[in-house]
Amino acid sequence: MWRSSRPAILLFPLLSGCNGPQSALQPAGIEAERVAALFWWMTGGGILIWLVVMGLFIYATHIRRHKEHSVRRTRWLILGGGIIFPTVVLAALLVYGLILMAQLRDFSGTTLKIAVSGEQWWWRVRYAREDGSMVELANEIRLPVGERVAFELSSPDVIHAFWIPSLGGKVDMIPGRTTQMILEPTKPGTYLGACAEYCGSAHALMKFDVVVMEKAAFAEWLERQAAPAKPPQDATAQQGLQAFLANGCGACHSVRGTEARGQVGPDLTHAGSRLSLGAGTLPTNAETFSRWIGHTDQLKPDVRMPAFGMLPADQLAAMARYLSELE
Ligand code: CUA
Repeated sequence: MWRSSRPAILLFPLLSGCNGPQSALQPAGIEAERVAALFWWMTGGGILIWLVVMGLFIYATHIRRHKEHSVRRTRWLILGGGIIFPTVVLAALLVYGLILMAQLRDFSGTTLKIAVSGEQWWWRVRYAREDGSMVELANEIRLPVGERVAFELSSPDVIHAFWIPSLGGKVDMIPGRTTQMILEPTKPGTYLGACAEYCGSAHALMKFDVVVMEKAAFAEWLERQAAPAKPPQDATAQQGLQAFLANGCGACHSVRGTEARGQVGPDLTHAGSRLSLGAGTLPTNAETFSRWIGHTDQLKPDVRMPAFGMLPADQLAAMARYLSELE
């Protein structure tokens, strides 16, 4: 039983990695389709070389055993099967890879520009609007389907890498430099992005959500993100805003439309509309906001934001309620 099922058991972890919202083999964009095609051609080329070389190896041992081999035949086996054939296949794959690389480096014809800064351990996202203004948000990127989007990638601290496997390859974010990348999503949906370069203790908790939307819905969403935060809707939310300001949260965070204008941490103007909290650490709702503010140190190792667990429970709950309603 074990013997017969062993290949399937060994293959399972391999194949299970091919599915899900973070799979590079289920492309949802033109660049990801190219990366997936390269993967399959490389795999096919590798299998072809292996089969031919193994076939010739078996043939060579066979003729040797039957003592029919001639020096000339052995020479041809080594030269043709061992050198010329793999060289031709590998050279063809190399040319294919170089052509793909040139296509991925073509930065022309983009319609939208997004600047993303990888910071320990979250993502600062800035959209350039048509009127020249910028809209800043964090840990979430929304894209219009069918449009070529130019990303400008940077980092103020250490090297991070920007990667949305379903939409394209990864590009490093290097301090003191701006790197570029183009993505053109073809399928609406929600995908996962992650930091793909080890950048410190919370590297594994440096994720972001990517939502590919229809063009009209995207334009509406960007318009909403550009607007200032809505005022507190009731007495509890009002108390939450007051606690937020009184505890100095505005020194690090911005909530446009209030006195909070900090630039150190994520902009929270529409924090309640985001899918995740703490760069993919928790889902977003009043309960998780409260947990996050009170226990950042336990939820994300070495995170820059101090834990505010010493605050009275009603203040913490009011603040969480206010932030979760910032949609
Ligand atoms: Cu940022 Cu790993």
